[in-house]
Amino acid sequence: MRVLEMSARIQKAAVIGSGTMGNGIAHVLAASGRDVTLIDVRQDLLDKAMATIRANMDRQVAKQALKKEDAEAALKRLRAATRVEDAAKAELVVEAVPERMELKKEVFRALDAACGPETILASNTSSLPITVLAAATKRPAKVMGMHFMNPVPVMKLVELIRGVETSEETFQAVRALTVDLGKTPVCSQDYPGFISNRVLMPMINEACFALMEGVATKEDIDTVMKLGMAHPMGPLTLADFIGLDVCLNILEFLQQSLGDPKYRPCPLLRKMVEAGRLGKKTGRGFYDYK
Ligand code: CAA
Repeated sequence: MRVLEMSARIQKAAVIGSGTMGNGIAHVLAASGRDVTLIDVRQDLLDKAMATIRANMDRQVAKQALKKEDAEAALKRLRAATRVEDAAKAELVVEAVPERMELKKEVFRALDAACGPETILASNTSSLPITVLAAATKRPAKVMGMHFMNPVPVMKLVELIRGVETSEETFQAVRALTVDLGKTPVCSQDYPGFISNRVLMPMINEACFALMEGVATKEDIDTVMKLGMAHPMGPLTLADFIGLDVCLNILEFLQQSLGDPKYRPCPLLRKMVEAGRLGKKTGRGFYDYK
């Protein structure tokens, strides 16, 4: 009952950043019956994001995972905007801008100034410290991590991260909302990479080392993890899906912040990024998508 009350409290949400993660988060929040403002710096980015959400909802309708009328109602609850101030009335704001600390801090400072004192500010960061983002605001008790997985409408997990100052009330409100979205929450303390990338990135990195050292072909490395360990994608395919630049950034951050050489990025991964082979998004990574 208390869980329902808490999730019911968050009815108006805003999402900052309309890329893959941002539009996926706006999608699931709107589909759960909430009013959502999706915010980005340019109208053309928002138009593209809205078209993506429509297409992904159509896909769910075709698969009978969502009723047509519910998809239409959800699209009506979604509004696109270009100013951070448009998040002012939201009870929860989820930030999903690129993984650059200075940019995220700037967004958190702007949100802190624009939003009412009760608004919860969450970050979808995949590894950066929540405590540092919270310290950029005057409401550290109302800041936490809410890390969704890609593709957001499909993946069941949301990793919730408590910063040093996150209040129990904030955590429980976001936890209840996560359950109400049909997702399974897990709780991580605020350490680099949290749980997901602390475990996933070393696996992807090791697959890169195995490929670089000629242990096996990329197809065989992926097949072992797919058929031998029942992963939906092999680690090299998954790295292409996530983005090789994103994987490299996370590994560099793990190495630098934990100070342990076991996280050193594989030279092959670095070389691929330097060559502009970033994975699916550029049409070429370990595999060719053209
Ligand atoms: N929106 C809505 N539905 C979608 C979708 C989207 N964006 N993408 C896929 N789907 C649906 C499809 O319609 C399909 O539905 P049914 O099961 O009802 O048929 C289902 O998802 C599966 O899709 P496909 O049939 O097209 O393809 P698939 O079976 O190969 O699955 C996949 C695709 C879901 C991506 C699957 O390969 C998978 O789970 N891969 C692993 C994904 C993963 O590990 N994600 C985490 C990445 S790490 C991360 O996000 C965090 C980080 O910090 C780096």
